[in-house]
Amino acid sequence: MNTDISIGTGNPIDRVEGRLKVMGLAKYASEFNVKNLAYAQGINSTIAKGTITAIDTSEAEKQKGVIKVLTYKNADKLKQYDEELPAISTSSIQPVLQSADVYYYGEYVGLVIAETFEQAQYAASLVKYTYSEEKPDIDFDSSRAKAYRPTEKSDYSRGDVSQGLAEADVTLEQIYNTPIEHHHPMELHAIIASWNNGNVEAYASQQIIDDATLTIADTFQIEKKNVRVIAPFVGGGFGSKLHAKQHVILGVMASKQIGRPVQMTVTRNQMFTNTNLRQRNEQKMQVGAKSDGSLTALSHDTLSHTSTYEEFQESCGTVTKMLYKTPNNKVTHRLMPMNLQTPFAMRAPGEATGSFALESAMDEMAWKLKMDPVDFRVKNDTQVDPSSDKPFSSRLLNECLKIGAKEFGWEERPQKPGTKEEGNWLVGYGVSGASRRAPYQKTSAKIILELKDSEVFATIQMDATDIGTGSYTIIAQTASEYLNIPVAQVDVELGDSDFPKTPGSGGSWGAASFSNGARAACENAIASLEEKSGLKLADAGLAKLMRSGNLNSFEAEGTAEPDEEFKKHSVFSFGANFTEVWVDKDTGVFRIKRMLNVASCGKILNPKTAFGQIIGGCVMGAGMVIAEQTKVEPNYGNFITRSFADYHVPVNLDMANIDVIFLPEEDKIANKMGIKGVGELGITSVAASIANAIFNATGKRMRDLPITPEKLI
Ligand code: MOS
Repeated sequence: MNTDISIGTGNPIDRVEGRLKVMGLAKYASEFNVKNLAYAQGINSTIAKGTITAIDTSEAEKQKGVIKVLTYKNADKLKQYDEELPAISTSSIQPVLQSADVYYYGEYVGLVIAETFEQAQYAASLVKYTYSEEKPDIDFDSSRAKAYRPTEKSDYSRGDVSQGLAEADVTLEQIYNTPIEHHHPMELHAIIASWNNGNVEAYASQQIIDDATLTIADTFQIEKKNVRVIAPFVGGGFGSKLHAKQHVILGVMASKQIGRPVQMTVTRNQMFTNTNLRQRNEQKMQVGAKSDGSLTALSHDTLSHTSTYEEFQESCGTVTKMLYKTPNNKVTHRLMPMNLQTPFAMRAPGEATGSFALESAMDEMAWKLKMDPVDFRVKNDTQVDPSSDKPFSSRLLNECLKIGAKEFGWEERPQKPGTKEEGNWLVGYGVSGASRRAPYQKTSAKIILELKDSEVFATIQMDATDIGTGSYTIIAQTASEYLNIPVAQVDVELGDSDFPKTPGSGGSWGAASFSNGARAACENAIASLEEKSGLKLADAGLAKLMRSGNLNSFEAEGTAEPDEEFKKHSVFSFGANFTEVWVDKDTGVFRIKRMLNVASCGKILNPKTAFGQIIGGCVMGAGMVIAEQTKVEPNYGNFITRSFADYHVPVNLDMANIDVIFLPEEDKIANKMGIKGVGELGITSVAASIANAIFNATGKRMRDLPITPEKLI
């Protein structure tokens, strides 16, 4: 599959699956050729709250090619949430079409199964629903009275914030707003499901194979071992594919009902209503500091929404608990049940949005204190996580800030806003500090070695996914390193629930988990071969080890998981963002001229794919500032933005040069290979660094995202 002759990690090699990708041979879920396939099209509600009182399927059923129309009346009975509404969304079930009740606009209320996609889509438009409609709760402001504390864990405090504020020489209280956003990975959510006598096989675009398998099993109340999920290539997820959504269940149900394999693809339009969203957050920050810049208090209160039937909370306060040293700290989260679909994790859930509030507030405080914002952050560094009293496994935040300031030319920054001009543009520089938890989870892998002539070829298998991040490549590099054979002799097979179990891709745990799992399998193989042959890999090489043991093939499995040292420490990646913006004095149009991200995320397995992760994060962070927002239509609760024509993301013209510096680091406390997460660090705090640069350019403080030009005039 790949041709790279280098050995080991650390080299910026091309993606081993790159050739398959550009040749169209890396298949996404809906691209597999399955015989006798039928197609399903979901039908969406056109009210946000109420009850279905009548359904007329007759016209749809008459259409050519239509096989079946499913509604709550003839759907399979599924396991349903048994808690009182709203139920905690951590449960592994995903019920759908179970009652006549409608909880949000666009909810699935039916499904048409037909011979072709086009026939299904057309017939779906002919199914007629009559509703008894109720007034939906879709307005953020008028829902405030319903705010509740979701769980015990949603609140945190140490010290006494009121006292800390009273002791401060300078205080700040401000509110920061971030809108609803949508994930929109390139590959649409999709499934091809085959139900055979209680056994399920599914090609599904999912980030976590094991979770999808479990969700299908639990929802249909069948055994997990009877479910196989396959996803060798996933075209992005950004969190929306962490958990199996309702279309996964609908695809399986449709196949069960008609006795044929069924493909169900969620359209781009439906990905606004049926595959979750990032919730809108209103974040109140209170900050207190002594005149020398030492923080005396930090408090972070988040108000947000969840659906009326399920609960999800984006923990915006996570970063505020641990990033800076302060004796007095308080974090709260409140949720309002609303008639919108359940929010869910979107790239750096909590950190991406929480850091906008925290790092904007830190910038505002630095300005009030007349301190340089880099110095203010450096001043409040801590090597012990104040929220857990555990030492950080490694924390190079100050180094990120200082090295970044030097490389970026921070000394060129105007001291006073609105004083640096280039023609009709006002020029400003902004900075932010960043941190993202670097989790690492139990991961297993299998290695198969084959001796051909005098060379050993390895195949490594695990149920890990590559969501476009480069998992194939870093796993191949890892196996190459521990087996001491070229990358070209390693084949990586991923995304199949028949392979050993991993935590899948998400939460920035992929690289550390997958690589250490692959390492463990290789180490076990080598240990056995060394024992059998009496030789050492370092002296003899792998081929000789196998020949001496008279082995033409050999298999081993291995499992890696966090050890005691990991648990005794607080393990985070750290970073700093620097941005230069130019703002047009008359129109408020602004351009991001350049960005620098300095990242401390342990050992970099492949600088090229890691760079891609960070610049992708920077672009998505810029998207939070420039354009991204989903607006709720105030009367009916539909979204106004239902396509890429109106949900805007940055294009090349919006972006400028992005430089990334990875600090050389190996965090051996984090895990044996010294790896920490990269993917979600990249987006964290980017929005604040841009907003802070806009303040430096214009003197205008932008606290509501996105920052569209009219807000700047
Ligand atoms: Mo990420 S939001 O855990 O895919």
